[in-house]
Amino acid sequence: MPTIIAPSVLAADFGNLERDCKMVNSSDADWFHIDIMDGVFVPNISFGMPVLAAIQKQAQKPLDVHLMIVDPDRYVETFHKLGAEILTVHYEACNHLHRSLQLIKSFGMKAGVALNPHTPVQQLKDTIQDIDLVCLMSVNPGFGGQSFIEKTYDKIKELKQLFEDTKSNCLIEIDGGVTDQNAAKLTSCGADVLVAGSHVFKSADPLSTIKTLKNIN
Ligand code: DX5
Ligand code: ZN
Repeated sequence: MPTIIAPSVLAADFGNLERDCKMVNSSDADWFHIDIMDGVFVPNISFGMPVLAAIQKQAQKPLDVHLMIVDPDRYVETFHKLGAEILTVHYEACNHLHRSLQLIKSFGMKAGVALNPHTPVQQLKDTIQDIDLVCLMSVNPGFGGQSFIEKTYDKIKELKQLFEDTKSNCLIEIDGGVTDQNAAKLTSCGADVLVAGSHVFKSADPLSTIKTLKNIN
């Protein structure tokens, strides 16, 4: 399967959001990655519903919404209405992860679970059959532009092993510090989706940066 590329809008120019969304529409990217931060689960606040509504108006590709918020069940329906096709919650933010996954699916969305760098993939052993996407955080969530944590390669392999052990399968997404320097190794370990913020939007030619990522295998 070709790698899915999901530019993270967090690194876009918010004064030119329409332009940047159109750039993603016309690029080889597959999804829009949308980072929602509440200033509680992570030490930063990104943007909320009105900005997502503006993105939704422009976006012609699926919205992959990454919730870095406490008690995400409160907003599952809201993000469905705002066009999320994939809705990812953090393992560390859910007291009842199984219930959260069922709630997301009840609205017809794909259910994702993100793991912080310190959370072992084994924690997903009992829910993996219910998950459509595992997002392995390759930085500590909260900010764009951080450097990639090398341990992530091992975690991809551990997740692949968990799939084998449990006879399950789902998409593996890598989020944080992804560049053309680590993309090939990530996909060869088993990554299906690469999120890239700064590397795309801060580059001189985002369209060709996306094309390069898309063609790395
Ligand atoms: C971090 C976010 C990422 C971030 C990635 O908390 O979840 O999606 O936007 O940004 P880069 O690619 O710049 O590390
Ligand atoms: Zn993200």
